[in-house]
Amino acid sequence: MNERSNIKKAIFPAAGLGTRFLPATKSSPKEMLPLVDKPMIQYVVEEAVASGIEDITIVTGRGKRAIEDFFDISFELEYELRKRGKAEILEQMQMISNMAKISYIRQKEPLGLGHAILVPRNLVGNQAFAVLLGDDIIDAEVPCLKQLIEVYERYKCSVIAVQRVHDDISQYGVIKPRHLENNVYQVLDLVEKPSPDEAPSDLAIIGRYILTPEIFDVLEKIGTDKTGEIQLTNGLRELSKRQAIYACEFKGKRYDAGNKLGFLQATVEFALKCPDLGREFAQYLASPELTALIAEKIGSPASSRREIISIESS
Ligand code: UTP
Repeated sequence: MNERSNIKKAIFPAAGLGTRFLPATKSSPKEMLPLVDKPMIQYVVEEAVASGIEDITIVTGRGKRAIEDFFDISFELEYELRKRGKAEILEQMQMISNMAKISYIRQKEPLGLGHAILVPRNLVGNQAFAVLLGDDIIDAEVPCLKQLIEVYERYKCSVIAVQRVHDDISQYGVIKPRHLENNVYQVLDLVEKPSPDEAPSDLAIIGRYILTPEIFDVLEKIGTDKTGEIQLTNGLRELSKRQAIYACEFKGKRYDAGNKLGFLQATVEFALKCPDLGREFAQYLASPELTALIAEKIGSPASSRREIISIESS
């Protein structure tokens, strides 16, 4: 599929302030927070590369230099690793700087996701491209972006990733869908952060998109909203009036690593999957000390069972 795919370029908007992780994000980017031993952005770059992306533009802002250093060659580190005979880790470090062609462009002010996508307009040119948000970490057999590209290749239209959300739908952009086939829908409308009563469905928009270049004119035309930002959801709604947009209900597990709970869930589950760490970590999770700490917070299933039995027998 990758050989035939026209989607070779991707934008990674990474200029947000990351306020939900302050103070950690005061001087280092949210995208560099590690899930076990890899920064979040590496998972997303790996997904893009596994989906056939060759050219990545990361939209950065103030305080994001660490991202550039991470994907750059580190001569000193490589020299030291070679000297110490650490061939395996050296190879991993070289792999990071060779993963894809990565360029950087600054968004001078964080004027919203829609604005961040407009910043590299000239670098993308007149072709469909991918957008990946570094907060959404997706664990999938077939990379999520690849699933979207497959839909794009069939319909040649913008494709957005959606997943069913049952709680806190009002945190998401939500689509009004028309079912087309299997896990593919046409997007009839989009609503940003609807109340549960007003949500047109339970299909929420997740941070993976294939966009046709017409989105640029649309985003420029809609301009900023009353919060002073250019919203991508508003741009997509406008685009859906001009050309069809499709949604792909991807197969895989998504972690909302842009908030603390989602980040911790991803950390625990990824650590359990680590070949060199998983077993020991599982033992720790099942240990009496940790069970006691958990019981202090929420009570333990075992103690609630004991209470029920003692009530019944008294
Ligand atoms: P978020 O809404 O998660 O904002 O942005 P944020 O600043 O990253 O984090 P919080 O909410 O303050 O904790 C979604 C994505 O859009 C990018 C962010 O970097 C993130 O990847 N973004 C957002 C920009 O690149 N520029 C912007 O002006 C806004």
